[in-house]
Amino acid sequence: MSCCVMFILMLSMKKAAMTTYMLYRCGSICSENMGTMSLLVRHDEFVKFRDDQGNFATSNDVKCLLALYDAAHLRTRGEEILDNAIAFTKSRLQSMIETLDPELAAEVEYTLETPSYRRVERVEARRYISVYEKRATRNDTILEFAKLDYNILQALYCEELKALTLWWKGLQSQAYARFARDRVAEMHFWMLGIVYEPHQSYARMALAKWLKLVSLMDDICDNYSTTEEYDMFISSLERWDKQSSEKLPAYMKALFIFMLNTISDIMEELKLQKNKHAEFVKELFIDMAKRYGAERKWRDEHYVPAKVKEHLQISVGSSASMHIVNVSFILMGDITTREAIEWAFSYPEMIRAVYNFLLSK
Ligand SMILES: *[C@@H]1O[C@H](CO)[C@@H](O)[C@H](O)[C@H]1NC(C)=O
Ligand SMILES: *[C@@H]1O[C@H](CO)[C@@H](O)[C@H](O)[C@H]1NC(C)=O
Ligand SMILES: *[C@@H]1O[C@H](CO)[C@@H](O)[C@H](O)[C@H]1NC(C)=O
Repeated sequence: MSCCVMFILMLSMKKAAMTTYMLYRCGSICSENMGTMSLLVRHDEFVKFRDDQGNFATSNDVKCLLALYDAAHLRTRGEEILDNAIAFTKSRLQSMIETLDPELAAEVEYTLETPSYRRVERVEARRYISVYEKRATRNDTILEFAKLDYNILQALYCEELKALTLWWKGLQSQAYARFARDRVAEMHFWMLGIVYEPHQSYARMALAKWLKLVSLMDDICDNYSTTEEYDMFISSLERWDKQSSEKLPAYMKALFIFMLNTISDIMEELKLQKNKHAEFVKELFIDMAKRYGAERKWRDEHYVPAKVKEHLQISVGSSASMHIVNVSFILMGDITTREAIEWAFSYPEMIRAVYNFLLSK
């Protein structure tokens, strides 16, 4: 592996994307030493691509513009040069689309809609195989490996989906069918967007199950149970034992036992994997159920929050944005520290942003 490639791998994602752009823009600088390279990836280095008025020098190289557009999206707040880079590349690219050959035009349109690092990786892999295949400059070995990789993972995902379907069918009662969303495949696909690698198979499946059950709670709460029934369900969850299902209405009993078993199994498995945060999987589930209950209370009381801020006090939580991030980290195993877990639970800006994004959709 050349020093150049090694170096890119060592950099953070942001720096890697910018370095790629720089490499592209400056031609080969592999021979330069590391010191120069690390300077190159600083955002103010983009200054050199601007003219005296601070505008980006006009360029007609589409691939170069695309690379800059992509790289600049990894900006952080206050990196004005990169804000300008986005505005500049966007308007240049838009004005060029008409004149490009159809394939390149499609690539430009696609990138303008979603910069490449924001795409779902596996979906992007499939798309890019088709794009790459048509290139005269392709490397057939890489293409073949990409296809093999894609097909191997696809086979694994099918196995997972089979297991998940059997799990869901194992729910003895079909009572949920009257009111709940029945979308196991969709849930699995969503979780694939979070963790797609083969060694994360268990995490992916457990996440899909966890979230399927959360969505079931959401539907019970919004669409079926009475307030008293829902509150009883929450108390049973808090007690976390099978006996406490006895007081529940008939349609809830099997659901309750199923939830209890599924989540207890996940916790057992995590403990076997020596995961220190297994208990959180349950705590977060119960916390989620309570948050739906809080929203419902507003509805029952016909209460309309006066300000968006007040609404967010409940709805940031009930959007599950923190919970999904939290459970994903826990299921990924060793990478999680207690500090990281506490950080997420404090609803930092980053997690609020996920919620705001969901809301804006
Ligand atoms: C294709 O890529 C592989 C892996 O990077 C490399 O070893 C091989 O030399 C390349 N083949 C050609 C023809 O460039
Ligand atoms: C409740 O569930 C039924 C059945 O799935 C669905 O048709 C209906 O739209 C849902 N109602 C609400 C308020 O979500
Ligand atoms: C995850 O949830 C647990 C249990 O509610 C909480 O104590 C912890 O701080 C949370 N961590 C994150 C990353 O949200």
